[in-house]
Amino acid sequence: MKHTKLLVLTIVLTLLFSFSAFAKPIVVKFSHVVANDTPKGKAAQYLKKIVEERTDGRMKVEIYPNASLYGDREAIEALQMNAIQLAAPSFSKFTGFVPELQIFDLPFLFNDSDHLHKVLDGEVGQKILKLVGQKGLVGLAYWDNGFKQISAKQRPLIKPSDAAGLKFRIMSSKVLEEQFKVIGANPQVLPFSEVYSALQQGVVDGQENTLSNIYTKKFHEVQNYMTLSNHGYLGYLLVSNKIFMNQLPEDLKKIFLGAVKDATEYARKIAKEVNQEYLKKIRESGKVEIIKLTPEQRQVWKEKMMEIYPEFYDVIGKDLIQKTLDAGK
Ligand code: LMR
Repeated sequence: MKHTKLLVLTIVLTLLFSFSAFAKPIVVKFSHVVANDTPKGKAAQYLKKIVEERTDGRMKVEIYPNASLYGDREAIEALQMNAIQLAAPSFSKFTGFVPELQIFDLPFLFNDSDHLHKVLDGEVGQKILKLVGQKGLVGLAYWDNGFKQISAKQRPLIKPSDAAGLKFRIMSSKVLEEQFKVIGANPQVLPFSEVYSALQQGVVDGQENTLSNIYTKKFHEVQNYMTLSNHGYLGYLLVSNKIFMNQLPEDLKKIFLGAVKDATEYARKIAKEVNQEYLKKIRESGKVEIIKLTPEQRQVWKEKMMEIYPEFYDVIGKDLIQKTLDAGK
């Protein structure tokens, strides 16, 4: 009898062991649109590394960069259906889902990244994560990229009126649309993956983006002038979905969320450096004339572009905008 019990126990333990040893890992598909050598690309790879290490391979993160699986709009839909489990679209891409997220597109909203982080980590940032949660998504963290620069083919953009009549590629956001209209330019929404060829073929004359996106996608090679305007911020919301998060065993969820926190810190640490490094590379390439604005010149852009704020008091909330501005005082 004793022997039978022992035998049964041994069989059960062996089966359990072989089951866990050969159990399929939980696959986390992470789709994004930028190159691996960007703040988001690097943070995604760092997240993959630490999730796989810390779960001993029980979770596997598959990264699909460069829009190789989905563009941003499709990624949000795929996420809602659990076809993918992670995405980190820029704030502008959430316009149709959470219009309040357009707050981050408002030009000249943040003085610097300290101001930005104070807002993201505070009441405003938390409120927006909650709104995202009402759409079947789970807002996990805010990931940094940086401030946007504006470029054009025809002429240097020194004052806002220099942009008049030119066509600029924008991300899908009403705020960005109005930001270009107010300076007399024509905005055109295009997915990130189509920007290079649109610039090259003259479908659009100019664009706005961060230095890391400009360099890694070679936009500077098909533009003649780039103004260091730092006029708006481009950052990301790392999102998952409720189906996936609810199915994740508690122990793995804890490890996963811990890794997300560490990858977020990593993204914050590297984003500025990466963008600075690419400014150097753009300069060294000699392919585009770089224009540095004086504080007075930048002030003219600021006053002009900020004229659009009242148009968004209703959709974003005047109090949310005011709180954000106040945090920088
Ligand atoms: C863009 O479309 O320009 C950006 O959202 C790309 C990105 O993810 O940084």
